[in-house]
Amino acid sequence: MSRVFGCVVGARPNFMKMAPLLRALEKNDDVRTVLIHTGQHYDSQLSDVFFEDLEMRRPDIHLGVGSGTHGRQTALVLEAVEKVLLEANAAGRPFHRLIVVGDVNSTMAAALAAAKLQVPVAHVEAGLRSFDRSMPEEINRIVTDVLADLLFVSEPSGVENLRREGRPSQQSHLVGNVMIDTLLALLPKIRPRETLRRLGLDFDAFGVVTLHRPSNVDQPDTLAPLLEVLAEVGKTLPILFPIHPRTQSRIWEFGLESLLRIEGDGKSGLIPLPPLGYRDFLALTSSAKVIITDSGGLQEESTALGIPCLTLRPNTERPVTVEEGTSTLVGNDAAALRRLLGDVLSGRYKRGRCPELWDGRAAERIAAVLTA
Ligand code: UD1
Repeated sequence: MSRVFGCVVGARPNFMKMAPLLRALEKNDDVRTVLIHTGQHYDSQLSDVFFEDLEMRRPDIHLGVGSGTHGRQTALVLEAVEKVLLEANAAGRPFHRLIVVGDVNSTMAAALAAAKLQVPVAHVEAGLRSFDRSMPEEINRIVTDVLADLLFVSEPSGVENLRREGRPSQQSHLVGNVMIDTLLALLPKIRPRETLRRLGLDFDAFGVVTLHRPSNVDQPDTLAPLLEVLAEVGKTLPILFPIHPRTQSRIWEFGLESLLRIEGDGKSGLIPLPPLGYRDFLALTSSAKVIITDSGGLQEESTALGIPCLTLRPNTERPVTVEEGTSTLVGNDAAALRRLLGDVLSGRYKRGRCPELWDGRAAERIAAVLTA
């Protein structure tokens, strides 16, 4: 009888991590995967477009939980995943294991549902720690790791964190980065010039910014100075800004729309764009001069692409991107952002290297352990 692996996704950054894993697992004849989408992200630009871009099959089960406070969203996923697992037991087709990726609310809630029903949990992207519990993702990471008995780790700091937390070394596997598997697989198919033209952005050189963390976007005193610096630098180097729905609402609420525009010359400015799918976004990031972001994944993608990344966070759970890669932590310090953008533009910014095992084969290594 085939072993059934439940594979849980919920929010935008989960999809590109699960896609290579599904493919690697499905190469095994005695394995069946059930793709469960919690519905944490539901807008087509935050969800459907990724399934098309990543050539990923549609979810087998969609839980439709939607947005809510942390407690409510977590509770809805917990209840819905528990129901899926119980129904599988009742039908005599129990899950062999549940696989969760990343650090979003869906990751933690699904892991909790499984652990309570004694379905073993594997966590992909385990061990990362920002040591900042004001970040909801840090709580999600800690709880998920405690519940999982197989911990797949993307960088050495994660192995060390798990060791310090007392986890037996047999449970931790340094396997590399599944998100970089996806990036390396799709990079040869990306056509930046064509994408830019289609988006009406025929620039030779540009930067890309993404911002969505509550700590950067929820207070006008923080968001306004950051956007002001970007608008100012945008006059020299156009800055493309695909905007997350949360950030878009705040920009309207705080009356900051006037900072976002193409300047009169049609070639510069801080230029607003809708959220982009995976391929369009990779087309932009892979040919950008600089990336400015508060995203976790983009710190890693910039490092893999060798593109300077100014990270608008005071800390990171991905220290390898700073120590070996191209990222620098800027916090939400607008003056430091201006200075570092100056360094990039004048060619004084550091160069990085791609961390060990970020070679496009992480999913294969994980599948080998899961199916052993
Ligand atoms: C979530 C993750 C974050 C991840 C980010 C990537 C948690 C705690 N946060 O943050 O780690 O980096 O996804 O995007 O899990 N919304 C829409 N359409 C959608 C989904 C959300 O408009 O399809 C709006 C809603 O107003 C919602 C808000 O965005 O309330 C926040 O969505 P939520 O999923 O709670 O968190 P994100 O900020 O997206």
